[in-house]
Amino acid sequence: HVSALSADAVELGTYRHYMQKEIFEQPQAIANTLETIAGGNVISPQVFGAHAGEVLGATRRVLIIACGTSFHAGLVARYWLESIAGIPCVVEIASEYRYRESVPDPDTLVVVISQSGETADTLAALKHAKSLGMSKTLAICNVPESAIVRETALRFVTRAGPEIGVASTKAFTTQLAALAMLTLALAKLNDRLTSDDEQRYLTALRHLPVAIGKVLELEPQIERWAQRFAGKQHALFLGRGRHWPIAMEGALKLKEISYIHAESYAAGELKHGPLALVDKDMPVIAVAPADELLEKLKSNLQEVRARGGELYVFADAGSAIEESEGVHILHMPEHYGMLSPVLHVIPLQLLSYHAALVKGTDVDKPRNLAKSVTVE
Ligand code: AGP
Repeated sequence: HVSALSADAVELGTYRHYMQKEIFEQPQAIANTLETIAGGNVISPQVFGAHAGEVLGATRRVLIIACGTSFHAGLVARYWLESIAGIPCVVEIASEYRYRESVPDPDTLVVVISQSGETADTLAALKHAKSLGMSKTLAICNVPESAIVRETALRFVTRAGPEIGVASTKAFTTQLAALAMLTLALAKLNDRLTSDDEQRYLTALRHLPVAIGKVLELEPQIERWAQRFAGKQHALFLGRGRHWPIAMEGALKLKEISYIHAESYAAGELKHGPLALVDKDMPVIAVAPADELLEKLKSNLQEVRARGGELYVFADAGSAIEESEGVHILHMPEHYGMLSPVLHVIPLQLLSYHAALVKGTDVDKPRNLAKSVTVE
């Protein structure tokens, strides 16, 4: 329905697929989503609704509920919320939460994330949380008049525009932008944000469209990598910290549209089992920005190399990693600190898109999947 209507109305223009178009629309989608803070030099809770100041000011814990790619956005936000805002956060898959006997806390802010706002499991999980007495609810959603948005006390509508491709791309990065704003609003209300920090984060957020634009220019190199991938049966994605969910998202994208079996692991878990899978036929993709965990990640990557695994490393301007036999490096143009997950997902979207093109799958409508999962 919603997406079917939009599909007729949205022109492909010069793009081959909606997914490709939507990947390239990300600078604009983020800029539009950030318009709520345009011009202002402070982040205000009001962007989440008229009474948001009161609700967010009293928030001591956050429970994020979502499915699929939206769940991955929630996982990134957990790192932000705990480290920047000092707020404990739990992230749950909606279909698990709704059927689990959980201990409700009426003071917890329940955040539901959904592109469509119609996902049956997420909607049911939200209603379940409310039925348990959790009335502080916030929706981060791309469709203003959707069922989920109608159910929550607070809301932030991302402005990604209609997303037609089944694989979620621009919805994800705009969700991250919204979650970054939520983190900053909570950090500020918790006295955890100096005004210098606030300015720094706002500047970094506003620079995202330009930074994403530069990452998109790396497409030709990613396309070459995708050629080599398309013949593989399996792939392993590794990341650490706030980039572990990005590895998860990269693996989901590859499975979803290229039908290549992909798994993701927190790189520190390799030695606890998955390392046994690694041989010369197992490409290993690593998300490797110059963050506080890079040195740890590098030693995980050496373990892979020592077993003959071929490495494809998405580094950034600050990560000192050299190309060598079996180690391919792509340097993202900038290092982006806390917000780096927003940039690092882009090459993984492109990688899965181009792998799917080589394989000739139906990129926008992968087999067995629906854009909006309105049934259980
Ligand atoms: C991702 O590429 C998906 N197609 C899927 O995981 C999606 O994110 C999930 O079904 C949740 O959808 P929603 O954001 O509309 O709730």
